[in-house]
Amino acid sequence: MGALDGRIAVITGGATGIGLAIAERFASEGAEVVIAGRRQGRLDEAVARVGHGARGVVTDVGDEAQVVRLMESVPRVDLLVTCAGGAVFGPVETVPMSAWETLFKDRFFGQLSAVRHAVPKMREGGSILLCSGIAGHAALANYAGGAGLCGGINAMGRSLAVELAPRGIRVNVLSPGLTKDTAIDWGVPATQVGAFLDTLASHVPMKRAGAPRDMADAAYFLATCAYATGMVLDVDGGWTAV
Ligand SMILES: NC(=O)c1ccc[n+]([C@@H]2O[C@H](COP(=O)([O-])OP(=O)(O)OC[C@H]3O[C@@H](n4cnc5c(N)ncnc54)[C@H](OP(=O)(O)O)[C@@H]3O)[C@@H](O)[C@H]2O)c1
Repeated sequence: MGALDGRIAVITGGATGIGLAIAERFASEGAEVVIAGRRQGRLDEAVARVGHGARGVVTDVGDEAQVVRLMESVPRVDLLVTCAGGAVFGPVETVPMSAWETLFKDRFFGQLSAVRHAVPKMREGGSILLCSGIAGHAALANYAGGAGLCGGINAMGRSLAVELAPRGIRVNVLSPGLTKDTAIDWGVPATQVGAFLDTLASHVPMKRAGAPRDMADAAYFLATCAYATGMVLDVDGGWTAV
């Protein structure tokens, strides 16, 4: 018997990285997992890896009609996890506004849209987990738009928690610190990613990046702790503690 037996989990961005680790963890605990992402190939690989009857639905969360179609593909939603989205790095005077707008369309409005269309399919006991990032608390250079986005998601999560508490739906925010082994575009050539992450990890009290499974541990806690709502959980090796 798994702790999530009989629960339907919709996980956007679940084909790679943090979302994939959460999909694996939830499925291993008995959840029926539905993974959403834009690329069929990635979804197919993820579904094979997750097993336990998982399935993929090609979805661009920046397109509301596709989010509607995603939610129509499930009879109900017990667990919603919104990991879809990327990041944009660069000096404020060089990153074009169009890049920030695309980031917000996918990662801010994508999460809001997923909640908007999942909530009518949720019942008492449901759980929503948004995804921000420690830039919502910790000032990171060359990440102005992303920092604003993360802070906005944290605020959105708290507001939704209060709004949905009377309906028995919990809302929390996973705020990852530096996490390796994901498909995120760090804005540096592939050959330099390792050195780039090592430099960033030197700022972390634990002196290393986290792994997607660390984020999955936190996601599992937030999905199963019946008294946890309105939380922003930084899982960051101590980055935001200093
Ligand atoms: N890695 C870190 O250090 C870190 C730190 C803080 C916060 N985060 C955040 O955590 C979340 C998960 O990131 P990750 O590190 O696991 O990176 P990742 O491996 O790149 O995962 C992001 C996933 O989102 C999907 N996606 C992107 N845009 C989408 C869209 N418009 N519609 C549907 N799916 C979309 C991607 O697949 P497709 O491109 O195939 O759609 C990908 O599978 C992201 O929001 C990221 O910004 C990451």
